[in-house]
Amino acid sequence: MEVVIRPNAETATELVAQVISRELRDNPRLVMGLATGRTMEAVYARLVQMHRREGLDFSVCHTFNLDEYVGLAGSHRNSYRHYMNHNLFLNVNVDLRNTHLPDGAAADIEAECERYERLIAECGGVDLQLLGIGLAGHLGFNEPASSLRSRTRIKVLSPVTRAQNEPLFVPPHEMPRRAITMGVGTILDARRCLLLATGEDKAEIVARAIEGPVTSMISATALQFHPHCTAVLDEAAAGRLQEADYYRWIFENEPQWQSYRNGSNSPGLDGHPVKPRRRKKEIATVLGGA
Ligand code: GLP
Repeated sequence: MEVVIRPNAETATELVAQVISRELRDNPRLVMGLATGRTMEAVYARLVQMHRREGLDFSVCHTFNLDEYVGLAGSHRNSYRHYMNHNLFLNVNVDLRNTHLPDGAAADIEAECERYERLIAECGGVDLQLLGIGLAGHLGFNEPASSLRSRTRIKVLSPVTRAQNEPLFVPPHEMPRRAITMGVGTILDARRCLLLATGEDKAEIVARAIEGPVTSMISATALQFHPHCTAVLDEAAAGRLQEADYYRWIFENEPQWQSYRNGSNSPGLDGHPVKPRRRKKEIATVLGGA
């Protein structure tokens, strides 16, 4: 796993938004896996800004959200469909027919979970999966003791998750006790995973997820198996990492991060950040190589 530590929540968010926008510019048909939660609100706000100011185009991309509360229809103000519509979808030019969340109000939840897995497969799988981390160490709603090979299914929410998310419900006791979530195995199938965590309250669980032993009690530890996973943290969330200096050293020395190191505005000649692929070609030309 790559670990990138940025000075604060704003710069960490910016880097994540830049990675997403670059992937989307490189592949307008990108299949994005999306997450919810407070942390992601700033990412979506920045993507909306990029759409408005820089013409970031969502018109042919597809999105699949990680999860949805059981019992909430998409029209419910506490549903994740509502969250996504208002934080992102209705503010960019995505085709709403290409945006997917599990249907929390489905009569047959098991069939709905199977349908969701099938739909992801039919779209060719997720290219870039955006992830937050809950205080219970979950990805999506893969609560402690979730199988690390699980697929989309229904899960009972843990007391820690309930305590974390209840304040977002009005009234709090209306928060459903269960959710449909992509499984850990579903998440690990994504071609790239991008986890964002900010704030001191995440420091302990982030350290356990990144540096601790792999365990189903913390589903985020499964990311240690993923061949292309980047965890982006602010200094506060990185506060308990043992090897923070090592991760900083890698970030400073890894060529693929060159155009990200000094913030978002390190444009190439065309006004966009230089793509690593093109850089390699340019270097080859300068050196007289093929
Ligand atoms: C919810 C989502 C998770 C997300 C978590 C983080 O529980 N199901 O996918 O990682 O929120 O929440 P926050 O960003 O508010 O800490």
